[in-house]
Amino acid sequence: MSITFDKSTDIFQLNTKTTSYLIGIADGKYVGHIYYGKKLDNCQGGYALLRTEERPFVPSANMRDKAGFADGFPYEYSTAGVGDYRESCLSVRTPQGHRVCELAYLGYEIFDGKRELPGLPSTFEIVGAPAQTLEITCKDAALGLTAVQSYSVFEDSDAVVRSVRLINEGQQPLYIERALSACLDMDDESFEMLTLTGSWARERHITRCPVTYGKHAVSSVRGCSSHQEHPFAALVTPGTTQDAGEVYAMHFVYSGNFLALCQKSQHDSVRMVMGIHPEGFEWVLKPQDSFQTPEVVCVYSDQGLGKMTRTLHDLYRGHLIRSPYLHKKRPVLINNWEATYFDFDSDKLVEIAKDAREAGIEMLVMDDGWFGKRNLDDNSLGDWTVNEEKLPGGLPALVERVKAEGLSFGIWFEPEMVSPDSDLFRAHPDWAIQVPGRAPTQSRAQYVLDLSRPEVVDYVYGCVAKILRSADISYVKWDMNRQFTDLGSAFLPPERQGELPHRYILGVYELQERLVTEFPELLLENCAGGGGRFDPGMLYYSPQIWCSDDTDAVERLAIQEGTALLYPLSCMGAHVSACPNHIVGRGTPFETRGHVALGGTFGYELDITKLSAEEKEKVTKQIGLYHRYNHLIREGVYYRIASWRENHLYDCWEVAAEDGGEAAVTYVQVLASPNSRSRKIRLKGLDEKAVYRLEGTEKIFAGQMLMYGGVLIEPQEGDYVSQVLHFVRV
Ligand code: DGJ
Repeated sequence: MSITFDKSTDIFQLNTKTTSYLIGIADGKYVGHIYYGKKLDNCQGGYALLRTEERPFVPSANMRDKAGFADGFPYEYSTAGVGDYRESCLSVRTPQGHRVCELAYLGYEIFDGKRELPGLPSTFEIVGAPAQTLEITCKDAALGLTAVQSYSVFEDSDAVVRSVRLINEGQQPLYIERALSACLDMDDESFEMLTLTGSWARERHITRCPVTYGKHAVSSVRGCSSHQEHPFAALVTPGTTQDAGEVYAMHFVYSGNFLALCQKSQHDSVRMVMGIHPEGFEWVLKPQDSFQTPEVVCVYSDQGLGKMTRTLHDLYRGHLIRSPYLHKKRPVLINNWEATYFDFDSDKLVEIAKDAREAGIEMLVMDDGWFGKRNLDDNSLGDWTVNEEKLPGGLPALVERVKAEGLSFGIWFEPEMVSPDSDLFRAHPDWAIQVPGRAPTQSRAQYVLDLSRPEVVDYVYGCVAKILRSADISYVKWDMNRQFTDLGSAFLPPERQGELPHRYILGVYELQERLVTEFPELLLENCAGGGGRFDPGMLYYSPQIWCSDDTDAVERLAIQEGTALLYPLSCMGAHVSACPNHIVGRGTPFETRGHVALGGTFGYELDITKLSAEEKEKVTKQIGLYHRYNHLIREGVYYRIASWRENHLYDCWEVAAEDGGEAAVTYVQVLASPNSRSRKIRLKGLDEKAVYRLEGTEKIFAGQMLMYGGVLIEPQEGDYVSQVLHFVRV
């Protein structure tokens, strides 16, 4: 890792383990992108890639064609108003109503370490893996606006993380209409754009489309990162696979509205930008105030998607997730949502706990329905007092009973919401996000609390903390079940209404920061109607996030494949549920449900008291597998071997120990095919020189043979059948 500036060539060079990122200063003023790719030892001649010698020349050589220059120059941070008609990162309105901005290079600083981003989640250095940072300062003198573009690299990573700080050094307020976090201008290489898209119950499916002239975007204006589109985009060269092809990826460390856009220009260059979605956004920057954009993680891979995946997994495990649970085996939990929905009481929960403990489950999580008068989803959010009709003696009594059965206890909250039918709403209707004079839109019969308002943040925190202080609670599932509408805050002045969506997310971050600070041992799992806020921002607070409300083993294959493209398996909340599945009505073997859930955090989401003795034995066996493989799932290196989404027959992934000492391969035959022969699977990440035994057999394989020849998987009878093959070095 190193960051240098070569005065003789005017080039900044950021080196990661295997990549280089080059930035040049053209004309002493324009900060331009030269190169992102394989690591370079020598970047002489690189300046020419800024094309300052070609028509249209730099403005100092030819002021006449400045607009032509601006519309073609590969900006590191694009601005609007002086001739760059491509997608802009920064748009600023003055009190006079003008929207012109041009940043000119002022200077730079290179320093060891990395600054925290105030109020925002961000990557950090750790002992043994320090960071280095480059800050490039630019200024629009007419506006009095300074922009500090920050780039950090880490000793042990191939990622470059970027963000921007805006400071108003002028005399009058500025209105920031857009402030994206990163821009990457490159020549087109017939790129395809890879994104993750979906919906509720089918989140993060991998989508790929050619980049043609014009703009292609994924985004959210829903107030959260969303089920529908994910704050991620990658440009890949044609034919990119898991192991080959070039990938330029951006992933946003943020949980609110976002825009990830790529645009192919008239000159066949491609610009990729990422940041807070400008729609509905406006930030008032008073003189001396500053605004910090969230962080974007950039990854380049010349070895296909697999290398990008592993770079992100390592970065998130090493430099983003702070929870003490990161490297710990999480307790196997059982959640009562699909078991009982709202229809439960203490006795029912204790009954579940008893059978759960016998099967080897370690924690009971009480989901929605324990507070206020909530027997349906249309009331009581905001009234975080225990319903003693359901739980006589309150939480302490229930928790003691559950603990007496040998399980620890977890609880569900939806702190950001309020039901119209709640004491909270009756007392403080103005605490809900809404526009005066309009009946606010309901969604799941609830409103969103205005977390831009400090007293609301305090109230919400007080409620959650009071419950957690009242009993021995080891785990919290933090849910968020509706997206934004009717944006209006009774707290913010008219000129600051555009700040609401971002201030809301800052409120969420503040709440979770307070929570993990007061309860450092708490296992926090984020959730948003399934996986509606599964993003790197939330990982800063919780080591795991509920992946999807769809727990069907087959539906989960595509969801978990897309999620694992970016996130370590240890982050993906995954449970075994009952069949027919509550969302799709499909029946799948109990074993397959277990094998798929083992690819995530692992737990149960069913009424164990209704299982047959035979099924309960299967639960115990599955938990045995969890204990056997969890160190691999949690700490190992993930490889995607085959995708059922692509081949329509089978799915396969592998997790190998970092030293290649063992590997677990999960194979799901989704559909049986007639008259088929065995299927060859090639493993990855093994020790080529070693010999492996297939656990449970006497079969011996050379590491090389497994990696380059492969292992044969016999066809099984029936659909939706699965197996886990465990190879151990002998
Ligand atoms: C949505 C979550 O994803 C579910 O797991 C469950 O907690 C419900 N909300 C409860 O309302």
